[in-house]
Amino acid sequence: MLDKAAEQQGILRLGASFDLASLQIASQTGNCPEIVADEKNMSSGTLVAEAATAYEPVHPQTTSVPTDLLFAPLDSMPAGPSPTSDEVVTNGACLVPLVALLDRYRAHSQTAMAGRRSRAWWKQITSLFGVPVGPLPVVSALDRDRLVLSAGVDSACRAKAAGRRWMRVQMPQSIARQWFSRPVDRLRAVIKETRRREFYNPVFHPEFRKARTSRPESVRLDRINRVLATLGEGLRGLDIGCNMGYMTHALERLGFQMTAIDFDEYHLAVAEALSETYCLSPRFVRCQFQDFDASESFDITLALSSLYHMFFTQNPDRPHKVAERVGQLTRHALFWESGDQPEREIDLICTHSGLSEYRSLGGTQGTGKIRELGVFLRPGTEISRALASRLPRAVQ
Ligand SMILES: C[S@@+](CC[C@H](N)C(=O)[O-])C[C@H]1O[C@@H](n2cnc3c(N)ncnc32)[C@H](O)[C@@H]1O
Repeated sequence: MLDKAAEQQGILRLGASFDLASLQIASQTGNCPEIVADEKNMSSGTLVAEAATAYEPVHPQTTSVPTDLLFAPLDSMPAGPSPTSDEVVTNGACLVPLVALLDRYRAHSQTAMAGRRSRAWWKQITSLFGVPVGPLPVVSALDRDRLVLSAGVDSACRAKAAGRRWMRVQMPQSIARQWFSRPVDRLRAVIKETRRREFYNPVFHPEFRKARTSRPESVRLDRINRVLATLGEGLRGLDIGCNMGYMTHALERLGFQMTAIDFDEYHLAVAEALSETYCLSPRFVRCQFQDFDASESFDITLALSSLYHMFFTQNPDRPHKVAERVGQLTRHALFWESGDQPEREIDLICTHSGLSEYRSLGGTQGTGKIRELGVFLRPGTEISRALASRLPRAVQ
């Protein structure tokens, strides 16, 4: 038997004589985010699991999640202009972040909508509210911290294109339980201990959704994700001056094995606590980049808003040494963001690192500075050729 009073409060209580048939009947009408067994059933964990499986398909939970944690198979959008190079990608089932599907989504929606009168209507609605309208996307798995979409990829793309940083999705109760039970105690403790009131980048957890952030936008993340989506699996990456590990974690989600360095112990404490929350396992090293003693090299290096400190403040006499060291550690490409003197930095890197081909990914701004984002390639390697095919052409 099912307890009707409890069901009205959102709890599905399984009584002693509970059976799956009565549960299926209940699932036509109720909507219980929580399923519990009474004492007699308690001993049987499998019974609760069976109940959850029988109940969930009818009553998923609706909740808001960070848009940048939503991933979908590359082939979940009908073929359109591919965001990737065919040289490298042959597997359409590989998971990519939403931003890597936007070009396909646009091509698909233009074809699907062509000639339909509803097109103008949709445009009006989305421009009026800046919010997409339609069925909610469905998340069907949590893969480490990647929320995997199984339906509604087009409406999720619409929300991403409209600039939504969090969006409402539906997910089965079991996935919602995993999502809400991600470990956050260590993060809370670090924040308390370090009296942190502001983060450099956003934190992808509901508790910190409204936290103050120096760089809340996802412009850099989106541009880098578009270029690296589908390339990362098995590659090694280095993040120089990683701060709270925002980009380190982002590349881990793409399949990179990341090493990240920063000299600031408080930043690294947050980064490590976040790894626990996100169920990711990058390696963090606390040191000055100039003292980073690594015999290995890395396929891709990130140095976002960090090299200018080393060039112009910490090593003003020998900035070329820093550029040389970046070159020694980097096999194929350096993703870089400048301080407020991009031309000087570009010149130093191109001249001294061996990463001599520069492609701009456009201007950015943050913490009061106008900056530049770009990629330096080592000419002639297979991966840098694959990357070059995804990047805007160099301006002569
Ligand atoms: C402006 S923050 C950028 C953080 C991150 N790269 C991003 O863009 O989100 C610069 C970071 O570089 C680190 N940093 C500066 N000089 C460094 C050095 N010589 N070695 C290691 N880290 C350094 C700082 O501690 C700080 O966390």
